[in-house]
Amino acid sequence: MTTDENTKISVCPVSELAPGERKIVEHDGEPIVVFNCEGEFFAIEDRCSHDDGPLAEGELDCAAGTVECPRHGSLFDLRSGKAKTLPAYEPVRIFPVEITDDTITLEV
Ligand code: FES
Repeated sequence: MTTDENTKISVCPVSELAPGERKIVEHDGEPIVVFNCEGEFFAIEDRCSHDDGPLAEGELDCAAGTVECPRHGSLFDLRSGKAKTLPAYEPVRIFPVEITDDTITLEV
């Protein structure tokens, strides 16, 4: 029997993920990438909804709040997970990020 309660996972200390850096964690076999965008943290599924492109390798645009899929160039909104440009049109999952005792924590 599983519960509906969300699980929290620790990523790393805040000091280990500098602005512009990214880190991949896995939960239940699913890769999640955590970005530090000018001091703000975002976590999204590391798998493009178009053709599984590795979003962790994409270019970040912190001013626009997007990451570009390195495979075919779709832009994804880091806050909502929505695909902003084709060829992707479905969103990717996003995960709430918290800082607890100087540790980056995800709710999955
Ligand atoms: S795999 Fe990401 S746009 Fe095609």
